[in-house]
Amino acid sequence: MTDFTQFPASFTWGVATSAFQIEGAWNVDGKGPSIWDTFTHTPGKIIDGTTGDVACDHYHRYPEDVAIMAGLGVDAYRFSMAWSRVQPQGKGAWNEAGWDFYDRLLKELESRHIDAHVTLFHWDLPQGLQDEGGWLNRDTAYHFATYAAEVARRFGNRVKTIATHNEPWCTANLGYGNAQFAPGVADLKQSVQVSHHLLLSHGLAMSAMREVGSTAQLGIVLNQWTADPATDSEADRAAAAFEYARSVEWFMDPIFKGHYPELALRVYGDNAPVVEEGDLAIIHQKIDFMGLNYYFRSFCSTETPPRQPECKLGKTDMGWEIYPDGLTELLLKLHAAYALPPIYITENGMANPDTIVDGEIADEARIDFVLRHLKALNDARLQGVNIQGYFLWSLLDNFEWNSGYAKRFGIVHVDYATQKRTLKHSAHWYRDYLIQQRPQKTANAA
Ligand code: FCB
Repeated sequence: MTDFTQFPASFTWGVATSAFQIEGAWNVDGKGPSIWDTFTHTPGKIIDGTTGDVACDHYHRYPEDVAIMAGLGVDAYRFSMAWSRVQPQGKGAWNEAGWDFYDRLLKELESRHIDAHVTLFHWDLPQGLQDEGGWLNRDTAYHFATYAAEVARRFGNRVKTIATHNEPWCTANLGYGNAQFAPGVADLKQSVQVSHHLLLSHGLAMSAMREVGSTAQLGIVLNQWTADPATDSEADRAAAAFEYARSVEWFMDPIFKGHYPELALRVYGDNAPVVEEGDLAIIHQKIDFMGLNYYFRSFCSTETPPRQPECKLGKTDMGWEIYPDGLTELLLKLHAAYALPPIYITENGMANPDTIVDGEIADEARIDFVLRHLKALNDARLQGVNIQGYFLWSLLDNFEWNSGYAKRFGIVHVDYATQKRTLKHSAHWYRDYLIQQRPQKTANAA
């Protein structure tokens, strides 16, 4: 991959992380436990038996991490706030020491002229709310809106964007559908109801933040994929249509059209969610931006064992097919179906079995992956999709949920025993690539 794709000077270049995956300090300075603390402390839930107790120790090392970002020359940093750090129980008293941490982080970013893009919920629900039913309890949506408004009140004029949720699909389907993620429930009916409460909470939080008033753009981050039938058989095509309906349209239709997709409702039957009068109007309100996380496509086969995709470009260390064309297809499909706001690609990247050899981490595969996806998103951009920026997942190797520390997504390597950070080849490449994209900016910053 040698082509150079020139992006507009206004394009935002960033890196992304999330609180639970990097912060550590799980019980420090008044932080309450989250469902991911509980889940990781339960034997058997995480493949390598690890926890997020220390993770990348970003809570204490954030100045070093922000300095690394400044060295890379990124415009923007996407991170999430740990709700239970600022409101230990998820309702009631605020924890000022928790707010102070995010204030310090923002100051550090401001001093480096790096824009902050905040996510309110990247899966780490306060355990106190889980004890009262978690996202299955409708009240949680209202507590979330209170938290959202408080973030907007305190920080809304200091951050560029606020996303309500990161990938609500995962909370619903992995947290409640197949028990891979916290809180570890496997129950279709619950998972569908949870997805509705997550969407409701998004809408309630949007209104609550609008009432506060701030300069931040407000939106949501969704993980999406195209769903391709493995063969032309009717069964595979039906499976693909349902997969797209339950994963993409399930979140897009209520937000942009004010209703759930009929196909999914029909297939769910009795498992369809309880939706109260007025809920869909709350969910269906203007958002200023949409974040899109793209990693792979869905390949739908009804055969046993399921037919596998060809994987012409190979697979990542997660076993995920490398399929950049899917990003172009997805963006064009969304553009045709919805009146989209500006889009940020809020996550894209790959796990690679990186090792340090003579102080170097030669992750050329990751560079190739990113370049191919940048080309794919630019193809969609040139066909009219309004894409404003790209956030590489991830700045650092980090706690990859139920895979623990076994999977490395960072462009910066972390030695978890010493917390030493080492730039991988991809980090050096990203820095040089950003200089090529906007020599003026980097020269000014130097
Ligand atoms: C996404 C998550 C992110 C990270 C990447 C690899 O689904 O949002 O936290 O785990 O996958």
